Amino acid sequence: MDHDIERAKERAEALRKEIEDHNHRYYVMDNPTIADAQYDKMIRELEKLEKQYPSLASPYSPTQRVGGQPREGFSTVRHISPMMSLANAFEEYELRDFDRRVRQALPGEPVNYVIEPKIDGLAVSLYYENSILLRGATRGDGEIGEDISENLKTIGSVPLRLRQVLPALEVRGEAYMPKDSFARLNEAREESGEPLFANPRNAAAGTLRQLDPRVTASRKLSLYTYDIGYSEGIDLQDHMGVLALLKELGFRVNDFTLLEDIDKIIEYCMDWQSQRFDLTYAADGLVIKVNSLDQRRRLGATTKSPRWAIAYKFPPEQAVTTVRNITVRVGRTGALTPTAEMDPVRLAGTTVSRATLHNEDNIHDKDIRIGDRVLIQKAGDIIPEVVAVLPEERKGTEKPWSMPTECPSCGSRVVRVEGESAVRCTNIACPDKLWEGLIHFSSRHAMDIAGLGPAVLAQILAARLIRDPADLYNLRYEDLVIIERMGPKSAQNLLRAIESSKKNSLSKLIFALGIRHVGERAAKILAAHYGSLDNLMSVREEDLEAIPEIGPKIASSIVAFFEVPQNMRVIDKLVRAGVNTRAEKSSRGAGPLAGKVFVLTGALEGFSRQEAQELVESLGGKVSSSVSRSTDYVVAGEDPGSKYDKAISLGIPILDEGEFKALTGIPQATEAGPK
Ligand code: IVH
Repeated sequence: MDHDIERAKERAEALRKEIEDHNHRYYVMDNPTIADAQYDKMIRELEKLEKQYPSLASPYSPTQRVGGQPREGFSTVRHISPMMSLANAFEEYELRDFDRRVRQALPGEPVNYVIEPKIDGLAVSLYYENSILLRGATRGDGEIGEDISENLKTIGSVPLRLRQVLPALEVRGEAYMPKDSFARLNEAREESGEPLFANPRNAAAGTLRQLDPRVTASRKLSLYTYDIGYSEGIDLQDHMGVLALLKELGFRVNDFTLLEDIDKIIEYCMDWQSQRFDLTYAADGLVIKVNSLDQRRRLGATTKSPRWAIAYKFPPEQAVTTVRNITVRVGRTGALTPTAEMDPVRLAGTTVSRATLHNEDNIHDKDIRIGDRVLIQKAGDIIPEVVAVLPEERKGTEKPWSMPTECPSCGSRVVRVEGESAVRCTNIACPDKLWEGLIHFSSRHAMDIAGLGPAVLAQILAARLIRDPADLYNLRYEDLVIIERMGPKSAQNLLRAIESSKKNSLSKLIFALGIRHVGERAAKILAAHYGSLDNLMSVREEDLEAIPEIGPKIASSIVAFFEVPQNMRVIDKLVRAGVNTRAEKSSRGAGPLAGKVFVLTGALEGFSRQEAQELVESLGGKVSSSVSRSTDYVVAGEDPGSKYDKAISLGIPILDEGEFKALTGIPQATEAGPK
């Protein structure tokens, strides 16, 4: 058995290296080279090995990223050296003053500055010993932070192991939530009536200070590093060298510029202000840092901030406009969301004419009335919102607003559940709910039905051709061609797109169903775990909660979804229409081993377990880890385990390696395998 452990250990280490590499390509280089499914497969193999041989578990294994058990609170960490903050400059003259002070303290010396975006996130510290991540902490008050290691480990761009051997290293950087994740998170919170995060910084902070790391793992954070707080075994001259080393060690490093002349720096700062809106993250300024580390030492620091750096803060992008109307939209889950319809105005890179008002409490708290002049801004550069009313501009003709008591879409009663800020339509068949549900169902990440945009969908609904997503699969050519602006060609294309969506993966279908709180990632996890929609439909809450990353909220929402008879009817129709409801492996269908279930036991000579499994799967078969009546073949190598005995007792055919090769069409060597 020692031999087995030895092999498992080697395989685990090889897998870790490979997974780390793919992680680095995906999260740091933004250049993945394998499909998600392949990556997931490696992770699963590694998890299995670590479970089978607990002595192989390791704190730096990529399997540690999923987020462990919730904790009671965080312990505190004293930083090796204080994590300081930066002095701010808002005006050109403040930048000139800074440059003058620096040059006065370094008479006659050339001074170069590195300029980096100032990311609106949360400063964190990562401490490595012998290249392994030991601890991650928040900045806290600068002296003492909180140990958030488990949460930081869930961030894909945080290396668990450095790409070079170093005795000790403390790295500092900014953990942040990319704009798209922020927008999606707030959308989901709005739908479920939870309070919204005001900006990506708060969202990142709230996410990193979660006691349940699974929650952190489910919200996508990222990290840019920009400093080394402490190191042993390296000698660096300047900040450029620091950034280059960080990159080599496997960290993500943001773009930067080296400039000398203050006029150029000011010009650069001004140019940046329009560019910032095109970034994938929210930036609230630029940081200007002296490049030479020796000069930095001589410049020193005040009690709060270093004298060698300054943050140029962008002016807040706000605008004033007039609210012309307040309309209400019904979302997929029936939540009524009020929106301010305003006179168009330029704001943070786009023209804005609508702003979300979130919910009725927000409108009443801010006393927003129709006709009001309001100050608007974009939360984290993204979602326009009303900051405040300008009461001094009121004329007395402004009209207060209140939430309708009937659904604006279908006229049904609306209810507000206690403890929630959202008001919801109670009608299960509400057309607006249906509309949003259909848009979601056919969207790219869901069933991906090209050609079914809002305009076409509106016409299909108006013609009463469909009442639920499953009806899409019954649309006929005759129905479609008579739709305005839909020629024979587009009708055919649409039907073809609908037809081919039947073959989509199970995870896409689960996501498309629009179960509350079940996003793309949860859908993938559920598909991999349950293998078929049938299995998922009959799960219990506690089974779901046992799955890493599936929390109680997702679990109860899934169970509730399948309890609604209307939902079950739609699923039934989808199945009858021939939509795939099985996970990738078995749905491939084709291949000589289609539908056959294999169990592998003992060591094979010609293949590793992984290779044998891949071979079976490539031929359409499935590999299961335990023998049951539904097993078709048990493949027994050397030293087979109890699965062999079970196969005999159940009368399941047992193949030796030679027979397995014959079945899978592998040419036989002159010498046959064992036995
Ligand atoms: S350097 C001693 N570089 O801004 C200075 N900070 O007010 C160390 N920040 O706490 C910080 N982007 O959270 C630096 N490229 C960047 C930054 C950055 C964002 C944040 C960081 C820091 C705060 C300073």
